[in-house]
Amino acid sequence: MILAIETSCDDTCAAVVSGGHVASNVISSQAASHAAFGGVVPEVAARHHLELANPIVEAALAEAGITLDDLDAVAVTRGPGLIGALLVGVSTAKALAAARGLPMVEVDHLHGHVAANFLEPDPLEPPFLCLIASGGHTLLASVTGKEGFETLGQTLDDAAGEALDKAARVLGLGYPGGPEIERLAASGDPGAFAFPVAMARDPGLDFSFSGLKTALVYAARDLGDEGVEERRADLAASYQAAVVGQLTAKLERALDCGEWPAMALGGGVAANGPLRDRVSEICAARGVRLKLVAPELCTDNAAMIGAAAEALERTPHPLYLAWDARV
Ligand code: KG4
Ligand code: ZN
Repeated sequence: MILAIETSCDDTCAAVVSGGHVASNVISSQAASHAAFGGVVPEVAARHHLELANPIVEAALAEAGITLDDLDAVAVTRGPGLIGALLVGVSTAKALAAARGLPMVEVDHLHGHVAANFLEPDPLEPPFLCLIASGGHTLLASVTGKEGFETLGQTLDDAAGEALDKAARVLGLGYPGGPEIERLAASGDPGAFAFPVAMARDPGLDFSFSGLKTALVYAARDLGDEGVEERRADLAASYQAAVVGQLTAKLERALDCGEWPAMALGGGVAANGPLRDRVSEICAARGVRLKLVAPELCTDNAAMIGAAAEALERTPHPLYLAWDARV
């Protein structure tokens, strides 16, 4: 029975995971607090985590129907993420582990996104290829064991989610931008604007999204405020198509380069409907099994951190060791 805590960005999350089963998965989004700024303000995020950490942990335990006495370990995201935000989660986990004499497991956030695929229902066993696309990262991972992954290619500049968030800002939409763009794109023409699909012809499996963002800024400038207003849905649809186009071009190349029995997605952008549809077509055409986790396990959550922790070694927390030695 693992209590997992995730506070790397703007979601305060705690979950109880046991043998791939999610007993509870509590997420408190701070998106509304950051919306006015068009992006996450690190100091605001850290202060919210501080207020919410204890109540969210209590909620996760209550929802799982357990108490601290039932826990075998505490897992926490150690990074990458916003340092002040991470510090709150790590301090909370350390305090719990030290007070209860529990081992602590420090988890890499990206390993967590991969590990969301190990959870019930229908857990995926390695080996598989995994595309992680979030607000901070975009990478293709080779997953041959549950304890980690190898990066095959990654973005050279912006992440896919960041590109969507910035585009939303240019189009005068809310934060986070990905879901807003997806909603608006549904009524637009994806072929209306020919946005560049970067690096499609370059060899390798790396990504680049900064040129796409610049192309949108220029298109918006040429259209003027009224033009953008009129063509907003077409701009969103064409931009989303370029993001999905680049992600899937590299994913197809990676599938062609290896013998992958299965493929999975992770990270907030993996919640995107058109991306999920296109990847489903690609995998069906190749006879590759595709695992699509529920959208709430794609965006940041603590259940995925618990899933990663289940595959990692449990080390007694140093603070606890020091206490033990003194006693
Ligand atoms: O994994 P995540 O919750 O946090 C990070 O680790 O960054 O990902 C957040 C990102 C944001 O950029 C957000 O705009 C994007 O995921 N996102 C989406 C969708 N839902 C969230 N992008 C496209 N379509 C969505 N439905
Ligand atoms: Zn994430």
